[in-house]
Amino acid sequence: MFTRGSLQCSRMDAVLQFENLSKEYRDFWRRKSFRALDGFSLEVDRGEIFGFLGPNGAGKTTALHITMGLTFASSGGGKMLGKPFGDARTRRRIGFLAENVSFYRRKAADLIRFYGELNGVRDQELRSNIKDLLEALDLKEVGRRPVTKFSRGMLQKVGIAQALVNDPELLILDEPTSALDPSARVTVREILLKAKAQGKTVFLSSHLLSEIELICDRVGIIHRGKLVRLGTVSELLESKEEFEILARGVLDSLQGEPLQDGVVRFVVSAAEQKPSIEAIWSSGGEVLSVTPKKRSLEQLFLSLTSADSETDGAGEIRR
Ligand SMILES: Nc1ncnc2c1ncn2[C@@H]1O[C@H](COP(=O)(O)OP(=O)(O)OP(=O)(O)O)[C@@H](O)[C@H]1O
Ligand SMILES: [Mg+2]
Repeated sequence: MFTRGSLQCSRMDAVLQFENLSKEYRDFWRRKSFRALDGFSLEVDRGEIFGFLGPNGAGKTTALHITMGLTFASSGGGKMLGKPFGDARTRRRIGFLAENVSFYRRKAADLIRFYGELNGVRDQELRSNIKDLLEALDLKEVGRRPVTKFSRGMLQKVGIAQALVNDPELLILDEPTSALDPSARVTVREILLKAKAQGKTVFLSSHLLSEIELICDRVGIIHRGKLVRLGTVSELLESKEEFEILARGVLDSLQGEPLQDGVVRFVVSAAEQKPSIEAIWSSGGEVLSVTPKKRSLEQLFLSLTSADSETDGAGEIRR
């Protein structure tokens, strides 16, 4: 599996480009509308695993649906593998997993076959991909069972298999592991890392921030239809506001947090950094290190997307 086609392009060429995208959903009378995306722009580079984060209702699924042509932008646009969003031929080179998987009443293996054929995979390659995927996702035993009797997690696995069966260059996955048990999550993580190692690109939305931290190269956070933060995971986790100073031989009066072997830890703001170091030196202490304090992705997410955050919000527009 994943052997078709060679990807010669450099890592930095964009395979997904959202360009100033806005989407307004209108009510039945077309009088009131809701702006789900508001001038949303983002580029996803070839070969990266990109985590698309945002609170419920932020616009993630809407953006993903626009890429596949399942819904249309009200203004702006974008490209996928160099072609306009929704281009039918390009879709064959994509693996797409919808947020709410719903399938025809078929046996699991037949469904995966159906999606493979739909995307132009045939014969030996198709048989071999299906076999590999059923095995990798622990679906072998249930491959001949109709999906109508499947649990939510089993359905999500079938969804992942159908997204991978055409050996896609670009995977667009809307919350791919939300229903999976821990062992299946590890399996999917390995599949995505393997895809990346083969030069493929993964664009996934998720609320599972610990998983995002583990596998994503870059992360984008969307809030009320706008991109509010973009960066590598380590860039985003570095707090510019707080620094950690480790020192030794300092006076108790400086009131740091004692660690092992006489080392004391101070957490200070950017403004306090210089005076704190000077206070340590003048008390005869030795500064061992000064590093920006790490915060969790969850802390960053909450600070950017809380109700009183300062990002401009889209929302209901009355006409
Ligand atoms: N077909 C629709 N008609 C009207 N409004 C819609 C439609 N689809 C989505 N919306 C609205 O657009 C906004 C964005 O929804 P979207 O599904 O894109 O959010 P999301 O970021 O995927 O959220 P979640 O994390 O819950 O999946 C929400 O306010 C939602 O109610
Ligand atoms: Mg969604």
